[in-house]
Amino acid sequence: MNHSPVALVTGASSGIGKAAAEAFFQNGWNVVIADVNDADGQALASALSPDGSRAVFIHCDVSRADHNHAAVTLATSTFGRLDAAVNNAGIGGELAQTANYPIESWNTVIAVNLTGVLLGMQAQIPAMRASGGGSIVNISSILGQVGFQGAPAYVAAKHGLVGLTRAAALDHAAEGIRVNVIGPAFIETPMISGVTADPAMAAAIVAMHPIGRLGRPEEVAELILFLASSKASFMTGNYYAIDGGYLAR
Ligand SMILES: NC(=O)c1ccc[n+]([C@@H]2O[C@H](COP(=O)([O-])OP(=O)(O)OC[C@H]3O[C@@H](n4cnc5c(N)ncnc54)[C@H](O)[C@@H]3O)[C@@H](O)[C@H]2O)c1
Repeated sequence: MNHSPVALVTGASSGIGKAAAEAFFQNGWNVVIADVNDADGQALASALSPDGSRAVFIHCDVSRADHNHAAVTLATSTFGRLDAAVNNAGIGGELAQTANYPIESWNTVIAVNLTGVLLGMQAQIPAMRASGGGSIVNISSILGQVGFQGAPAYVAAKHGLVGLTRAAALDHAAEGIRVNVIGPAFIETPMISGVTADPAMAAAIVAMHPIGRLGRPEEVAELILFLASSKASFMTGNYYAIDGGYLAR
């Protein structure tokens, strides 16, 4: 067993989570890749660490408490500790106006995007305590600060994550566990490829970003890595936008 710091990333088979897992790995961390997408998650772990000595994959549905506990147990049994967790797994849910929003989609989005983060932290915090402290980075959105038409469940869950992060940060600051939340604007990942496939829609979305383009997963991964690391040792309980100026308008 090596003595590198250990990060657990949920939703790490794709997009922002994958870029975060790669950034941790490239900066010398051991990584647990947790996702419901087994094929892509296993492929990422094998590509990073063919012998499994520095990166491992586990099937993990974040809406299930037992799956979150199993992911943390894999981190501690394989690498001996847990220093950082990135609660990144998320879904967009259906697009519909609030008056007609399907309750099934509401329940699913809240279960994954909000309750999934609570369940993740409930598994991660005891392990961090045992490691002498740690850092949790929750992935909200610009839609954790402002609304967006047709996405009431997503907007509510992402706003909820900001409050949940602040509450958790206060509860666990004295134990040396920092908890922060970040708010990316539109990032080029499979999550938004359906929307940006329409050129007119893509142009309209780009126009919401004063910087004149969408973000890249690697740019978000840099912020995640910084907040997870000891370089951010005095930062807890806050929301950090990474948004090309979206919220400044
Ligand atoms: N792409 C954007 O524009 C954008 C902007 C702001 C915030 N976000 C947030 O960033 C996070 C990552 O999104 P992305 O754009 O990389 O999307 P993505 O679709 O590329 O990746 C999401 C990953 O989460 C996994 N996942 C979905 N449900 C899961 C579950 N129940 N348990 C475990 N894993 C699950 C998927 O299999 C996938 O690998 C999400 O929380 C999303 O809301 C994305």
